[in-house]
Amino acid sequence: MTDLLSDLYPWTKSLHIISVIAWMAGLFYLPRLYVYHVEKGESLSGLPELFQVMERRLLKAIMNPSMIATWVFGLCLVFTPGIVDWGMVWPWVKAASVLGMTWFHHWLGLRRKDLMNGTNTVTGRQYRMMNEVPTILMIVIVFSVIFKF
Ligand code: HEM
Repeated sequence: MTDLLSDLYPWTKSLHIISVIAWMAGLFYLPRLYVYHVEKGESLSGLPELFQVMERRLLKAIMNPSMIATWVFGLCLVFTPGIVDWGMVWPWVKAASVLGMTWFHHWLGLRRKDLMNGTNTVTGRQYRMMNEVPTILMIVIVFSVIFKF
């Protein structure tokens, strides 16, 4: 199995980065939809329903599959011989950051349900601030995996 993972390394890393890009696109866009949903949703009839359709499709059709693919190909890379030295610092920094990114994904899913049920308590300003979370985590992740400190 480990020999197969070594042979497939360029494929798994390419598919990992492709999944990461799709996941990050959703993690950046969904909070923006929440900002407009909260701030503009009541300004036009039918608009809240339109936002709900956009949010559900983005989460279910793009973000959930790409998060799962990022984890599957990422873990394939973790188990590829010689790629991760847990004696170094970067794997731990990256592990903590991707757990943070996964928590943020889950938080967005819970907020979608709140918006759908009319029980949302988060303001547009707070969603704008939360939108910085994936940006900061992405910067930490990319520097950790490229510099490998
Ligand atoms: C979700 C769980 C994740 C796991 C288990 C994981 C694991 C890994 C591993 C083991 C590598 C191989 C490093 C190497 O080839 O030397 C890698 C590469 C990479 N990962 Fe992840 N990763 C995850 C999520 C992410 C996320 C969220 C991002 C970006 C926001 C990311 C960005 C990258 C990049 C850019 C590379 C290529 C680095 C290079 O070319 O050397 N990963 N990942």
